[in-house]
Amino acid sequence: MNIDGRNHRTIWIDDDGWSVHVIDQRKLPFSLETSRLTTLVDACDAIRSMVVRGAPLIGITAAYGLCLALRVDSSDESLMHAYQTLLAARPTAINLKWALDEIVRVTRSVDPKRRSHAAYAHAALLVERDVSTNRAIGDHGLPIIERLAAQKRSAPVNILTHCNAGWLGCVDWGTALAPVYKAHDKGIPVHVFVSETRPRNQGGALTAYELGAHGVAHSLIADSAAAHFMQRRAIDLCLVGADRATAGGSVVNKIGTYGKALAARHNQIPFYVALPASTIDWTLLNGEEIPIEERDSMELTHIAVRTTNGPVLTIQIAAPGSAALNPAFDLTPADLITGLITERGIAPATQDGLSSLFRRRPIETCIKDLQLVHR
Ligand code: MRU
Repeated sequence: MNIDGRNHRTIWIDDDGWSVHVIDQRKLPFSLETSRLTTLVDACDAIRSMVVRGAPLIGITAAYGLCLALRVDSSDESLMHAYQTLLAARPTAINLKWALDEIVRVTRSVDPKRRSHAAYAHAALLVERDVSTNRAIGDHGLPIIERLAAQKRSAPVNILTHCNAGWLGCVDWGTALAPVYKAHDKGIPVHVFVSETRPRNQGGALTAYELGAHGVAHSLIADSAAAHFMQRRAIDLCLVGADRATAGGSVVNKIGTYGKALAARHNQIPFYVALPASTIDWTLLNGEEIPIEERDSMELTHIAVRTTNGPVLTIQIAAPGSAALNPAFDLTPADLITGLITERGIAPATQDGLSSLFRRRPIETCIKDLQLVHR
């Protein structure tokens, strides 16, 4: 998407043909800087320290992490070591495992001499697929905004989003923000309520940044203000992304999503989740067993600020010595979700809804197969 009228992606291969550039999201919104990844360790660190974040982008970075490892050592042992190391980088977003499995699937049976080449070729395919998938999510989500726009005549459609599910969390377009960009680019008046997303502030730092750079009208709100604006009928639609969805339609997304879904239900506001198929964990039905990442308590007790004369400082904002708990994600049960916007269309958040779009076998069969594999 656009920054200062120039089209950008979040990840690309250097002119050398092998090293990987990413936008360093820790530096946003204060400066647009890139980071060059040249080793498996670089890729793991980039995921772990949130240089890159957002479920689809974590997956693509991990895919390139395998490429970087295979470039140095293309043996089976190296492939498996890199797989396990990258898989452990962050626990919740299933796209990480999905992308690693994709690279392993296409390289496992390839002669080790050609493995690195095959891995890079497949990673490039995953990159392009991420872009086309998110574009399709945008196309399928657009009519929801168009219908609301028709009801509102020329007043803007007010959309609440949480965390960053825009192009910065993917390769391009975004998941939840893809329909918003499509609507904006089509001239439909939209206004986005961006919840700040404490403690990492992905809303204020990333979503507000990318919407502003693309020219989409938006207002930053405190996380705690979302229910108030819903009650005041200021919000027409909630649109969020996901880090892992279950075959039954429940969704794990950034902490605070569940509370927003409850408030939306109480106020009869449609609550949609946009996600690619690579975010669906077909082995789970309800999601209680999804590992919820527990992050450093310093994310809560400290905050990065830019002083008026320039430098960015990290300052303490909580009482010294207080314990702090920092779960990064929460589970929104399927019955609070109006629909799942995918690259294949919109599904009700149910097992039947998802399998009708993706023609998967019933979950009971998948779980039986897994038990056989693990026996
Ligand atoms: O901890 P993060 O920033 O990686 O969490 C990201 C989210 O929760 C996004 O909402 C999710 O990945 C949506 S898809 C871009």
